[in-house]
Amino acid sequence: MTIRIQALQVHHDTESFQCGSAPLDDWLRRVARQHGGKGVSRTFVAVDPDTPDSILGFYSLTVGTAEGASLPPQLAKRLPKKIPIVLIGRLATAEPVRGAGIGGLLLIDALRRTVRVASEVGIAAILVDAKDQNAARFCEHFGFQPLPDAKDRLVLTLNTAATLFD
Ligand SMILES: CC(C)(COP(=O)(O)OP(=O)(O)OC[C@H]1O[C@@H](n2cnc3c(N)ncnc32)[C@H](O)[C@@H]1OP(=O)(O)O)[C@@H](O)C(=O)NCCC(=O)NCCS
Repeated sequence: MTIRIQALQVHHDTESFQCGSAPLDDWLRRVARQHGGKGVSRTFVAVDPDTPDSILGFYSLTVGTAEGASLPPQLAKRLPKKIPIVLIGRLATAEPVRGAGIGGLLLIDALRRTVRVASEVGIAAILVDAKDQNAARFCEHFGFQPLPDAKDRLVLTLNTAATLFD
């Protein structure tokens, strides 16, 4: 299956998307476009070009700050008190295509996009909010490390992410 990842647009069918987590489905349906319109977050969707309205997965990005000291000790060294971060607030794949590689493609796309933006503005790290232990393990599979005091939040430094695209 060929997959394209593109910005969420009006024609994408958010109503039919089901990932097994009602809050994530609802967020995509009710909030994603609204937040996009206000510049609060950006949402990107995976589609098969043969069925371009049908969403196979999505993620959202926003910017923020984190306490440098909240990072794992080996990453926290010599960081300022507050560091600029990009947050992958939500990431999910549709239940029928679970395990088909789309979650990984979405995560790598989010990292690639963030690394690109970081060549123009300061971003020290990428954080992700995992909804449960399973999601956390998925993120760890891609090199994210849990924050010592918030195990459902994981971090990958920008420098590490950048090495993926050398
Ligand atoms: C977590 C989620 C996004 C994974 O998506 P997916 O499309 O099933 O994952 P993929 O098929 O792309 O898997 C990519 C890689 O991650 C690995 N992986 C997937 N889920 C994993 C898990 N729970 N623990 C460890 N590794 C995992 C796969 O084995 C695969 O490894 P490989 O590239 O070495 O073969 C999906 O299960 C999901 O939408 N869950 C519900 C929503 C959710 O939990 N979102 C929060 C994510 S932070």
